[in-house]
Amino acid sequence: MSESAIAPSVDAVERVSTAPGFFVCFEGGDGAGKSTQVRLLAQALESEGRDVLVTRQPGGTELGAAIRRLVLHGDHVSPRAEALLFAADKAHHVDELIRPALAAGQIVITDRYTDSSIAYQGTGRDLGADEIRDLQRWAVAGVLPDLTVVLDVSPEVGRARRGEQPDRLESEADAFHDAVRQGFLALAAREPGRYLVVDAGLAPEQIHAVVRERIDEAVAAPR
Ligand code: TYD
Repeated sequence: MSESAIAPSVDAVERVSTAPGFFVCFEGGDGAGKSTQVRLLAQALESEGRDVLVTRQPGGTELGAAIRRLVLHGDHVSPRAEALLFAADKAHHVDELIRPALAAGQIVITDRYTDSSIAYQGTGRDLGADEIRDLQRWAVAGVLPDLTVVLDVSPEVGRARRGEQPDRLESEADAFHDAVRQGFLALAAREPGRYLVVDAGLAPEQIHAVVRERIDEAVAAPR
């Protein structure tokens, strides 16, 4: 008997089914172009008559919007408090929006999810990727994406694309953003079947085409 048959991966044990809906997440560093890709994908799916819910973290609910203001635009927040605030946002968000939408058969597209916290708080803030992963898994009660698209951006390109008024996390140094990038890539390498890594330096339409192809395969495949 193979080792994996004796000890199934934690992901296999903890992950709950998202059927009848389908759950897609876009992740990546600041300036990766996630919001453009979220918009292109939602428009394409909606034009085919699919029922789509677009949301983002932090935010998406009234409580989430309040947490977003505190954690991104407020004064200093201690790293552990920051991790807990992002976890609280996701816990509420999953209960209020994501789980009901998936249960109703919608395609949920989210701009950031648990991996952002693992990469930013776990790797970037150095709180420990495994600890933040456990915290996030608990917060979302095993509701994980069917597909996570990582838009891989270098700190230099990300910096050049950011707006004039960076938020608390965007203002961090390149070393922080590089650690975040490595965090995302490590997560994708662990579970290639559930991830798609795309070079964020490609043209938006090229990225969209790669994402579309993978979504079509994934939606058609049994889950
Ligand atoms: P985002 O919504 O992508 O920013 P914007 O709309 O300004 O482009 O993300 C906001 C910031 O929050 C981003 O720097 C990443 C950070 N973040 C975390 O650090 N942990 C998390 O769990 C999430 C969801 C976001």
